Amino acid sequence: MTGDFPAHYGGEPIREDVLGYGSQSISESEKQAVVEALEGDYITRGPTVEAFEERAADLVDVDHAIATTSGTTALHLAGRAAGFDSGDEVITTPLTFVSTAHAATYCGATPVLADIDPHRRTLDPDAVRDRITPETEAIVPMHYGGHPADIEGLLEVADEHDLTVIWDACHAFGGTWNDEPIGSQRDMAVFSFHPVKNVTTGEGGMIVTDDAELAARLRRLRSFEMDYGPEGHEDEPWYQVSEGVGYNYNVTDIQAALGLAQLDRLETFKARRDEVISAYDTAFADVPGFRTPPEAPNSDPMYHLYAVEIGEEFGCDRKEFVNALHTENLGVQVHYVPLHYHPYFEEEFGYERGEFPEAEGVYEGLVSLPLHAEMDDQDVEDVITAVRRLHEYHA
Ligand SMILES: Cc1ncc(COP(=O)(O)O)c(C=O)c1O
Repeated sequence: MTGDFPAHYGGEPIREDVLGYGSQSISESEKQAVVEALEGDYITRGPTVEAFEERAADLVDVDHAIATTSGTTALHLAGRAAGFDSGDEVITTPLTFVSTAHAATYCGATPVLADIDPHRRTLDPDAVRDRITPETEAIVPMHYGGHPADIEGLLEVADEHDLTVIWDACHAFGGTWNDEPIGSQRDMAVFSFHPVKNVTTGEGGMIVTDDAELAARLRRLRSFEMDYGPEGHEDEPWYQVSEGVGYNYNVTDIQAALGLAQLDRLETFKARRDEVISAYDTAFADVPGFRTPPEAPNSDPMYHLYAVEIGEEFGCDRKEFVNALHTENLGVQVHYVPLHYHPYFEEEFGYERGEFPEAEGVYEGLVSLPLHAEMDDQDVEDVITAVRRLHEYHA
């Protein structure tokens, strides 16, 4: 059977090639920038990394930007710079990627999960309040899919209890909240430049901050915690000494050249993502049991995900929906299996299912549809047709 019949139930797939939920956009300008970097004097961290950091700092309107090898290593460095240690508690959301919690775990601190506000799908400030103990050091909220967390509410809790805030803004590069770039809020914010994210350097990440001391500490930790010119050794140019356990999280000029070329195209990427979102919002407005992403008042987010929630009225459950769209060659994905469902968090920290009902309720229906700047109108139409015909089949 063909035509309007979903492929999962015997029809023809809507397309032959797989459309992923996210993808990079690489043009001639990126290719040329990378070739030029390869012909330069530095192919490891050099002047292009500095230029990339300066440009990103300008865009996010912060004083300092420190590029690293990934969002994960950026979170690790942020946790170390904040001084996380064993015995410390760091409050974060269950509805995130594991790396958010690793800002704490990599430093020997304990990730303490608090439930989400189901509308925003981000940390609920009141749930955070309930989890505060004398050991609480910090909050690590995540801007889910690019949608800003309750920044005001979370900063209020942080102020009440003198807590550090590290914003996991891995999904949110390029967006604004209350006319401020997302990521410019205190104390530090972390971005990811993985290929599915809003801009890419292949792999890569960045920490941004207005705090000069934190920035200096982050730079040292990124590169072996090395003092490259200690006082009293000015006539011994080889004398470089380590002052603690640092890392090699240095990013290369090749990646930074790619990153700079991507930043040149940031507005184009955002405009295309916004067009796709708007087409989806219009097409799905009348589909029952199909909750489209929430509005973000006073904000202009750059969305990384278009995550919908499938409810009972849609006609099939989330598992059936995902498998049916995969049969259509549409690479939908689920972001995320809540952290307390992962064996590591269950076994190491004793979390159990049922503890975070709001996150669990949202997770039950969650599916991310394809969203990226390279999608053409036919790609968008394929997704819309597949969703609508699946609903009609089950109606
Ligand atoms: C919310 C969140 N935080 C952190 C990360 C880690 O970023 P990276 O893949 O660059 O290490 C990701 C990556 O998917 C993420 O989605």
